[in-house]
Amino acid sequence: MTPEKLIDLAKEAMTHAYVPYSGFKVGAALLCADGTVYQGCNIENAAYGPTNCAERTAFFKAVYDGHRDFTAIAVCGGKDGVITGLFPPCGVCRQVMREFCRDDFLIYMADAGDGYETRTLAQLLPFGFSAREHMG
Ligand code: THU
Repeated sequence: MTPEKLIDLAKEAMTHAYVPYSGFKVGAALLCADGTVYQGCNIENAAYGPTNCAERTAFFKAVYDGHRDFTAIAVCGGKDGVITGLFPPCGVCRQVMREFCRDDFLIYMADAGDGYETRTLAQLLPFGFSAREHMG
């Protein structure tokens, strides 16, 4: 699975977004170690707080199905589904990644064209909290 293919799947996932409040459509495609891909979109709520980000939708679908080992995630988003720049994962999603992924987990963020930026989880969440290291 190339980064480009994973990004294409994130762009497709973006079209599933439920965003009556912000209008920001976000899509994610999560690559499991066995090659399975889970797509996710953001799902908003009138009370705002219960909103679920695209990345967490993808993770929760995958974990429900028994996956625990992940390689990479592609993320894209933009107002009304138009990508005008990178859409980096929010802090809550980075913490969910920390729960299941190692430092070298890859995050591909699509840009406005055909390109993307890559960061590791260690770069996006340095000095993070995880049960593995902090709770024995
Ligand atoms: N959003 C995501 O889906 N992922 C992120 O990592 C950042 C924010 C969503 C939540 C909300 O529906 C919209 O983007 C605007 O904040």
